[in-house]
Amino acid sequence: MALLSGKNVVVFGVANKRSIAWGIVQALHREGARIALNYQNDRMEEPVRKLAAELPENTFIAPCDVTVPGDIDRYFEQLGKEFTQLDGLVHSIAFAKRDELGGNFVDTSWEGYQLAQQVSAWSLIGLCKGAAPLMEGHESSVICLSYYGAEKVVPNYNVMGVAKAALEANTRYLASDLGPRGVRVNAISAGPIKTVSAMGVADFGSLLDTMAQKSPLRRNVDQADVGNAALFLLSDLGRGVTGQTLYVDAGYSIMGA
Ligand SMILES: NC(=O)c1ccc[n+]([C@@H]2O[C@H](COP(=O)([O-])OP(=O)(O)OC[C@H]3O[C@@H](n4cnc5c(N)ncnc54)[C@H](O)[C@@H]3O)[C@@H](O)[C@H]2O)c1
Repeated sequence: MALLSGKNVVVFGVANKRSIAWGIVQALHREGARIALNYQNDRMEEPVRKLAAELPENTFIAPCDVTVPGDIDRYFEQLGKEFTQLDGLVHSIAFAKRDELGGNFVDTSWEGYQLAQQVSAWSLIGLCKGAAPLMEGHESSVICLSYYGAEKVVPNYNVMGVAKAALEANTRYLASDLGPRGVRVNAISAGPIKTVSAMGVADFGSLLDTMAQKSPLRRNVDQADVGNAALFLLSDLGRGVTGQTLYVDAGYSIMGA
């Protein structure tokens, strides 16, 4: 039997075919999950609906911008009318102003810092709170997407590195809080993958090159690698795992030099 047959999973963060969230959706769909998606704003609606046309007709789609007051509550209110319960939640969203993803970290503005934290770290708490009534009381699983810049200084990643550090800490606190209610919460720390968001980081190509040359597997990872790891954490295969950061980075993070 398929790993997620009869399960409902909501995935936040599909923007286009290159999105990591879309790689995750492929794996979830393949294993029988019913999917719910969001789109960030009116401009994103059409591309997301076009992609969703590749999924079954009962795929749920609604707007949700995590910075718009009331959007998260509205999303889950609507979702609750379609899904009696939720077995998985994928948080694959992040944002920082382009001029904060290059240059000197010491020049980070308060506005830029706040925005990166709100969209990329706080939103995990907001989405978990919104989803909790549909997720608690049975076994369910939340995942979010982090990056090595959370723990080591990666050139130009700057304000997003600090937001990812907060995201990984949020993961642990949420895992502790929601565990007694049956909800697991984990992070995947993915290696660099060429996506629209990633291209906002100055000199992103050199991160790809370094990983391909120095990681134990001597390659980059892709959306399918992350999708399959997400599948493990979202399915019963991962039912003993919570509060962890799982590296899907071809081993790059173990190297000392
Ligand atoms: N691409 C990489 O190299 C890489 C590596 C590790 C982790 N990640 C993380 O993976 C996740 C997905 O990024 P991606 O690389 O697939 O890029 P992407 O641009 O395809 O996805 C980013 C998503 O964030 C959404 N988003 C931004 N602001 C939002 C808001 N205010 N409200 C709701 N949604 C909002 C966008 O609509 C988009 O769908 C991010 O958390 C990113 O930091 C990416």
